[in-house]
Amino acid sequence: MEEAAVRLDQVDLHPALRDSILSVPVFHTEVMGRFPDAISFAPGAPNLTFARGFDPGRHIETYLRHLCAERGLSQQDARNLLYEYGPSRGVINGLVAAALRRDLGLDVADRAVVITVGAQEGMNLVLHALLPSPDDLLAVVQPCFIGISGAARLLGVDMVPVNETERGVDLDGLAAACRAARAGGRRVRALYVAPDFNNPSGAVLDLPAREGLLRAAEEHDILLIEDGTYGFTAAPGAGLPALKELDRDGRVVALGTFAKICLPGARVGFVVADQQVAAADGTVRLLADELAKIKGMVTLNTPAISQAVIAGMLLEHDGSIAETGRAKSELYRRNLALLLEALDRKLGSGQPAGVSWNRPAGGFFVRMRLPVTADARLLEICAAKFGVLWTPMSQFYLDGSGTDEIRLSCSYLEPAQIEEGVARLADFLATLG
Ligand SMILES: Cc1ncc(COP(=O)(O)O)c(C=O)c1O
Repeated sequence: MEEAAVRLDQVDLHPALRDSILSVPVFHTEVMGRFPDAISFAPGAPNLTFARGFDPGRHIETYLRHLCAERGLSQQDARNLLYEYGPSRGVINGLVAAALRRDLGLDVADRAVVITVGAQEGMNLVLHALLPSPDDLLAVVQPCFIGISGAARLLGVDMVPVNETERGVDLDGLAAACRAARAGGRRVRALYVAPDFNNPSGAVLDLPAREGLLRAAEEHDILLIEDGTYGFTAAPGAGLPALKELDRDGRVVALGTFAKICLPGARVGFVVADQQVAAADGTVRLLADELAKIKGMVTLNTPAISQAVIAGMLLEHDGSIAETGRAKSELYRRNLALLLEALDRKLGSGQPAGVSWNRPAGGFFVRMRLPVTADARLLEICAAKFGVLWTPMSQFYLDGSGTDEIRLSCSYLEPAQIEEGVARLADFLATLG
């Protein structure tokens, strides 16, 4: 390929491009590409077993029939709705709101839902809207998903880490961060938290921790940005109420995704933003209205064809997000149980000193502690000599901690790969002592 004559200097581009957080996905792809035979516990990718025989046309037709019946549209008008540019707010908001009412008992108006290009766009919209001033700070429960820290960096939003502890979120740390911000003439505006099987730690906030967090949010007058991505993987009857379900005052802006429940390639997620926004002229709108305005300038609208595929999948499960995700949830729990069981068997007795791991009951991730620094160099050795990959955890921390931790993900692997991967990992760990 001929090289372009114009060469740009990276220092003239957005400063976030020099931030290692934005390079994390590239790093994963690059390492996996160099070790194609390695078994990878690195990416938290959805399992595509369910995509075999996937027929987007069927789902679209299901949704079109629903549109005709529900809105009294002709076949052609219903089709045009999918082929046209669409409303920034989305077209399947009513179905999503109904699913949230049905599954969670959430009293959500259709208007309070914005359909986004994945939860990732939802994060960007919410940060855009809520943290407009350089004096606004985003508190983040760490370790945290790279998507939120990367989005904040890209938007120039400063972050303060608040630790995840055995008992939940470090509320004293949150209070101290809010105090310090005020003392410096700034304000913590919101806290990002993933209460169900956090990516990357697998941690869950129990009910008292959720209630305590809501009280703290009120006390410090901050909003909570709840990422509910992995809630659907809880065992039947074991799921805890979402923060949004416990929220009485509208403190919680909830992010959702269909990437894990339906299909990542559809790129459909949503935000529930029912907070009231008072304008200078006395009119009151919803935060969702404001997010839709921003979305109009970012992606205009989430592709209606993608929305139709997701809607069709929901409709085939009685309009329930929980039912749509049920079989996948079982598969993810099976994989996690296989991983934990293999770790116990291969490492449990006489495990190398300093190696320990947690035991999440759901989600995609297990967090493991090593007796040495778990960095890119160690990963390289492990991949080259033992044929197994994992994710260094330090990239999920904002304050440089987590250097002796790794994240293991088993979401998309076959049982035999999990077994073989753990055997390889055990051989590698045995060399660390
Ligand atoms: C915690 C968390 N939130 C959001 C997402 C991304 O969701 P989406 O694919 O809908 O952008 C992921 C994906 O890995 C995730 O782990």
